[in-house]
Amino acid sequence: MRKARFFKAPDHEARALFARSSTVHLAGQGDAGPIGRTVHGVVCDGALYFHTAAVGEKQGLVGREVVIWSDETVATVPSYFLDPVLACPATTLYRSAMVRGTLEAVDDLGEKARALMALMARLQPEGGYAPITADDPRYHKAVASIGVLKVSLDAAVAKHKLAQNRTPDERARLVASLWARGAPGDDAAIEAIRGANAAVTVPAVLASGEGYSLHARLPSTALDGAVALLRDAYWHTASTPEGIAAMHREAAAWVGACDAEGRLIASARVVSDRVRNAWLYDVVVAEAWRGRGLGRRVVALALDHGAVRGVERVSLGTRDAHGLYEKFGFVRAVDTPLANRLMTRIQRSEPLSASARRPGA
Ligand SMILES: CC(C)(COP(=O)(O)OP(=O)(O)OC[C@H]1O[C@@H](n2cnc3c(N)ncnc32)[C@H](O)[C@@H]1OP(=O)(O)O)[C@@H](O)C(=O)NCCC(=O)NCCS
Repeated sequence: MRKARFFKAPDHEARALFARSSTVHLAGQGDAGPIGRTVHGVVCDGALYFHTAAVGEKQGLVGREVVIWSDETVATVPSYFLDPVLACPATTLYRSAMVRGTLEAVDDLGEKARALMALMARLQPEGGYAPITADDPRYHKAVASIGVLKVSLDAAVAKHKLAQNRTPDERARLVASLWARGAPGDDAAIEAIRGANAAVTVPAVLASGEGYSLHARLPSTALDGAVALLRDAYWHTASTPEGIAAMHREAAAWVGACDAEGRLIASARVVSDRVRNAWLYDVVVAEAWRGRGLGRRVVALALDHGAVRGVERVSLGTRDAHGLYEKFGFVRAVDTPLANRLMTRIQRSEPLSASARRPGA
């Protein structure tokens, strides 16, 4: 109980987690004993819906109290991040959501069709099927015969374990260790810890500047901002906004800076195989912010990212701003047909040993 107050997140976070989980877990007391199942859940009209066979064990839970939950791992934290000797601090940072409530059968065909449609929209967002409605004769039999069950989300609660129980010094060490480890997801974990705790001390490469904050991983809410910054860039004349957004969403690293109002004002992304080659793309600073060192900060941050730091060579293509990259050791590839465009930075010539990859080694 003592720790629960640290980790309780606002209730709307529970709905948000259920909404982005493609599967959720269900448990209840059946006639023959406890039942646990994984189901495709969807949030619709303030309830969590899932479909099932018209008859079966899950139907046996209708009218009974059930628990539905979902969770996502934010980062695994080895003990040595916080203590060089003892195993005790080993933990996992996570977000979870849970709702307890009475399982209800949905009999209204219109409500069933809405829930099934919401499920399809969630699991097959690209479409490719006729919309499900109760009065479409092609769906009438299926909608009538499939079982749809729901639990109200009124009592949904969320728990976020994001180092809220740690001291400021421990949080600083945790963030520094995550940045040093640089495994996939550690960048987003750093941002999650910063989001859940006030004034987290970060490594120097991530420290805020005058009127802006730097970010180890930008969230999907920043995609529109990245598109706006890059829409008119000469190298994106043939790109669509959706394409630019996808390039950033899928990037091995996507770092940037936001102003005091949270608007994206600088951005850079990296494609990386994490061993031999990384490519730095889409370095951009909002016009009003240029010439104040932000370009340099964002490039430094991208090059120190875990997906880039230990890679043998980092390359980029640019028609201008060579001076910016030369400051980081990039040299022009003058002997290639792409002379004056391709630049490369050799970071190491020997493969990384396994021990060099382990933080603290
Ligand atoms: C290029 C860009 C990212 C630089 O950002 P910035 O915040 O203005 O850069 P900084 O203020 O950090 O400048 C860092 C250094 O790079 C140098 N630099 C910046 N832009 C440069 C350019 N176009 N050509 C040569 N050097 C440049 C600066 O002179 C500065 O050097 P200094 O530290 O010795 O004074 C920014 O101008 C921009 O977004 N341009 C449009 C997009 C673009 O052209 N990107 C490059 C192609 S990948």
